[in-house]
Amino acid sequence: MPFFGIVLLLAMAYPATSCNEQEKSSLLQFLTELSHEDGVAMSWQDGTDCCKWEGITCNESEAVIEISLASRSLEGSISPSLSKLNDLLRLNLSYNSLSGSLPSGLIMSSGNITVLDVSFNRLSGNLQEPLLSITEHPLQVLNISSNMFTGEFPSTIWEKTRNLIAINASNNSFQGCIPSCFCISSSSFSVLDLSFNQFSGSFPAGLGKCSELRIVKDGHNRLSGSLSEEFFNATSLEHLCFPNNGLHGLLNGAHILKLRNLANLDLGGNMLNGKIPESIGQLKRLLELHLNNNNMSGELPSALSNCTNIIMIDLKSNNFSGKLQKINFFNLPNLQALDLLYNNLTGTIPESIYSCNNLIALRLSSNNLHGQLSPRISNLKSLVFISLGANNFTNITNTLHILKDCRNPPPYLSGPASREIVQLKSLQKLIFSFNGLSGEIPQQLSKLTNLQVLDLSSNHLTGAIPSALSNLHFLSEFNVSHNDLEGPIPSGGQLSTFPSSSFDGNPKLCGIIVAKLCGSVEAPTVSVLSTEKMDKRIALVIAFGPFFGVGVLYDQIVLSRYFG
Ligand SMILES: *[C@@H]1O[C@H](CO)[C@@H](O)[C@H](O)[C@H]1NC(C)=O
Ligand SMILES: *[C@@H]1O[C@H](CO)[C@@H](O)[C@H](O)[C@H]1NC(C)=O
Ligand SMILES: *[C@@H]1O[C@H](CO)[C@@H](O)[C@H](O)[C@H]1NC(C)=O
Ligand SMILES: *[C@@H]1O[C@H](CO)[C@@H](O)[C@H](O)[C@H]1NC(C)=O
Ligand SMILES: *[C@@H]1O[C@H](CO)[C@@H](O)[C@H](O)[C@H]1NC(C)=O
Ligand SMILES: *[C@@H]1O[C@H](CO)[C@@H](O)[C@H](O)[C@H]1NC(C)=O
Ligand SMILES: *[C@@H]1O[C@H](CO)[C@@H](O)[C@H](O)[C@H]1NC(C)=O
Ligand SMILES: *[C@@H]1O[C@H](CO)[C@@H](O)[C@H](O)[C@H]1NC(C)=O
Ligand SMILES: *[C@@H]1O[C@H](CO)[C@@H](O)[C@H](O)[C@H]1NC(C)=O
Ligand SMILES: *[C@@H]1O[C@H](CO)[C@@H](O)[C@H](O)[C@H]1NC(C)=O
Ligand SMILES: *[C@@H]1O[C@H](CO)[C@@H](O)[C@H](O)[C@H]1NC(C)=O
Ligand SMILES: *[C@@H]1O[C@H](CO)[C@@H](O)[C@H](O)[C@H]1NC(C)=O
Repeated sequence: MPFFGIVLLLAMAYPATSCNEQEKSSLLQFLTELSHEDGVAMSWQDGTDCCKWEGITCNESEAVIEISLASRSLEGSISPSLSKLNDLLRLNLSYNSLSGSLPSGLIMSSGNITVLDVSFNRLSGNLQEPLLSITEHPLQVLNISSNMFTGEFPSTIWEKTRNLIAINASNNSFQGCIPSCFCISSSSFSVLDLSFNQFSGSFPAGLGKCSELRIVKDGHNRLSGSLSEEFFNATSLEHLCFPNNGLHGLLNGAHILKLRNLANLDLGGNMLNGKIPESIGQLKRLLELHLNNNNMSGELPSALSNCTNIIMIDLKSNNFSGKLQKINFFNLPNLQALDLLYNNLTGTIPESIYSCNNLIALRLSSNNLHGQLSPRISNLKSLVFISLGANNFTNITNTLHILKDCRNPPPYLSGPASREIVQLKSLQKLIFSFNGLSGEIPQQLSKLTNLQVLDLSSNHLTGAIPSALSNLHFLSEFNVSHNDLEGPIPSGGQLSTFPSSSFDGNPKLCGIIVAKLCGSVEAPTVSVLSTEKMDKRIALVIAFGPFFGVGVLYDQIVLSRYFG
């Protein structure tokens, strides 16, 4: 009978034995050395088949090939007994509170482990170099990130790991040089994350040989030197991230255009010089460009308009100059964040920017831009943050009018009839200091009843302070100093609680606060300070609070959500 024949054959091939005693005792030894095992011991009972224990996987021959105990609140140390599990292929102990060292037998001697993930624990100590006897090691994935490992990173083992794919050793305290031999024997190596350590020395060598390298992240270390020409032979690269190191030199146009697959270029917080090369426009897959906090200069390349998929451009704190109009924002419909803070850009805000209707955050403060906001800013339906301070923008009446009409999505908090009022009311912080605003302070400001900060200082405002501003009950900061306002400071309400410094530099204002009787014939004294108006530079912030559900929002806090 064929059926019985098959059963018999199977029974002979796979006798119903349980896991082998030596493997079982290694596992029990591991359990013994945990100081907190979160119920694992309930399942791991001596006398039962260890292949059926929680977190254990065996192959058909009842050999333990996988231990998977991530996120089990395990405490204590990892027993060296695990390295006696000859057939173990995968070990995942991530997201626990394991401490002590990583038993060197697990990877650094001739084991069979292909995937080792002990990330997010409290492991410490050094990782030893492998025993000399190793000829080959099957390791493919090593994730030891977010632990407390110290010392030099092993280097010789990578010559023996032919199948290596990914290493994540980020967020430890490794020091010394970054090894250069990751791709000497492995052609499949594709992920290297060594960020948030204390690596030093020059830009890592040898990575150009990694033909499959997709992600390299070495940010937040102490690397120096320049980007080596050899490195740009790694043409599969998608993420090139070396922020916050000490790299210097130029961004070479001929080199960068070899990286056609680049999606994220992050070299912020280094000491790079020179221009952004025109060839950047050939990186059609670029999504994020971070060159902030360097010493780069020159005009922004118009070719940047060819990076049509880009989502984020962060070039703040450099010395870029020339007209912002060089970039055609019509071509960048996916742009969500543009940060050009602290540069030397001139001209007006290009009309094309108002076509970026996915824009969430726009920061142009501390440049040399002039002109006015266009009413088309109301197209920017996703905009929650705009910062334009310390430029030379003009016309407060116009700007407020435009912002009032902006239709950000209303809080679910309102009916259609009240939308415009709600929009206006949601403004919490209006800082417009150090611009070239002229004309009178609009009465309509008093409708911004949630306003907490109103700073119109150092402009060219004229006329009286509207008495209706006394209705702004939540106002905790108010500054109209260094303008050309006149007449009595409204008494009663919130305005009378501010110090005289809020009103300084307006010789024609009168009232108790500025110790000058109204109606007196005293000749106005000329303000010496008014000549310094345009020199000082602080940020203008317009924050639509309720739309991101945070209380009072400050420039840095808000922007960190968009610009990291
Ligand atoms: C189970 O693993 C052992 C050790 O690696 C191996 O010898 C055996 O062939 C494997 N059995 C199966 C069915 O894969
Ligand atoms: C690796 O696996 C092979 C075959 O399964 C086995 O013979 C050998 O002992 C294992 N090596 C170690 C160090 O466990
Ligand atoms: C380890 O387990 C965690 C949690 O389940 C998982 O996120 C992670 O991808 C696993 N590691 C590997 C290398 O598969
Ligand atoms: C550890 O890194 C590997 C390789 O990148 C990855 O597959 C795994 O999911 C990571 N583990 C966790 C917990 O994120
Ligand atoms: C490496 O691990 C850290 C967490 O420890 C994670 O944030 C990071 O995204 C990982 N890197 C890669 C390239 O997956
Ligand atoms: C670094 O590791 C610590 C501790 O595991 C963790 O809380 C933190 O989120 C990690 N930081 C990053 C950037 O992954
Ligand atoms: C880059 O690769 C090319 C061949 O693809 C080779 O000729 C050249 O020498 C390599 N450059 C460097 C600096 O290694
Ligand atoms: C910054 O760049 C300018 C040229 O644009 C150069 O003169 C200056 O030395 C650079 N500063 C540093 C610290 O590299
Ligand atoms: C942008 O791309 C188009 C077509 O791909 C090309 O003709 C043009 O020269 C590019 N512009 C710049 C400034 O590189
Ligand atoms: C800013 O650019 C102008 C010309 O557009 C130049 O005169 C000025 O020196 C630049 N300022 C700085 C700080 O580089
Ligand atoms: C601001 O713009 C006005 C003209 O609108 C101009 O006279 C003035 O010089 C500009 N100020 C600065 C600092 O560029
Ligand atoms: C300000 O803008 C308004 C509305 O566009 C306009 O009527 C007014 O003349 C402008 N004022 C100045 C000083 O440019």
